[in-house]
Amino acid sequence: MANILINRDKCIGCGQCQRDCLCDTIYMDEGKARVGTKRCIKCGHCIAICPKEAITLGNIENINWDQNNPGMERGRAPEPEAFLDFLKFRRSIRHYKNQDIEAEKLDMIIEAGRYAPTASNGQKNSFIILRKNIGQVRKAAVKTLYDAAANKERPLGEREMYRQSWVTMYDDLERGKGDRLFFDAPAVILIVTDKETGSSDIDAGIAASRMELQANALGLGVCYIGFLSTAIEFDDDVRKQIGIGDDERMAVAFTVGYPDVKYFRPVPRKPADVRIL
Ligand SMILES: Cc1cc2nc3c(=O)[nH]c(=O)nc-3n(C[C@H](O)[C@H](O)[C@H](O)COP(=O)(O)O)c2cc1C
Repeated sequence: MANILINRDKCIGCGQCQRDCLCDTIYMDEGKARVGTKRCIKCGHCIAICPKEAITLGNIENINWDQNNPGMERGRAPEPEAFLDFLKFRRSIRHYKNQDIEAEKLDMIIEAGRYAPTASNGQKNSFIILRKNIGQVRKAAVKTLYDAAANKERPLGEREMYRQSWVTMYDDLERGKGDRLFFDAPAVILIVTDKETGSSDIDAGIAASRMELQANALGLGVCYIGFLSTAIEFDDDVRKQIGIGDDERMAVAFTVGYPDVKYFRPVPRKPADVRIL
């Protein structure tokens, strides 16, 4: 049953909420919107679209942005060429300054993830930020990768190309010659979701991509760390060390920090394989 509340005194009967309702939960009755009994995924479109602020959604965050809210102006799409350049100049950052990230910037990155779309508005993503325990997680993950790589009997399949890198990663860390897993980033953000496969990986991927771009907009850089997923896959103790629950799964991890590298041009890419049917 939907938790939508429609103030029929405020409703002017424009029908926009009914037209935009994915689940047909809202219908028009005597020229005004009314809530039916059909399932509601709490997407909040009815709140966003109502010109009269006549709709609220139970105990979910109350959005009361009026037309004078500065976010209304800022929220317009960026200039398209500039946006595409911004996307092209984003790089995976593997060199970070020894500089901490302001708490407000981390909050904005999380907010970008929270506002990502999710299948059926499931909103199953949780966010873990590694700060003080980066060293401990790094050590466990690097050792796990090393153990797999050093065991010549162990087939690594498509990851065979990383065997030597994982040995070097371990040797370098042991000798204090650098961190090739997290690149000494001051924070690592993990997106954790439920164990069901379904669309949760897509949800997490979309959120991660938005968080990455928000980080870039804040002058920070990011690198996705698939090797952390590999370490968890090889040894479940790594997951436990991080504090990911038995009923959860890590979908994405990425480092964040101030880049200590400058790129002068975008990288080459393969031509797009496009089929217009
Ligand atoms: C799912 C995923 C996992 C990745 N894992 C790693 C990783 O463990 N270590 C790393 O240095 N880079 C990692 N990368 C970064 C890619 O190598 C990088 O995106 C690619 O080489 C293209 O470079 P660009 O991001 O600068 O355009 C990963 C990227 C993705 C999307």
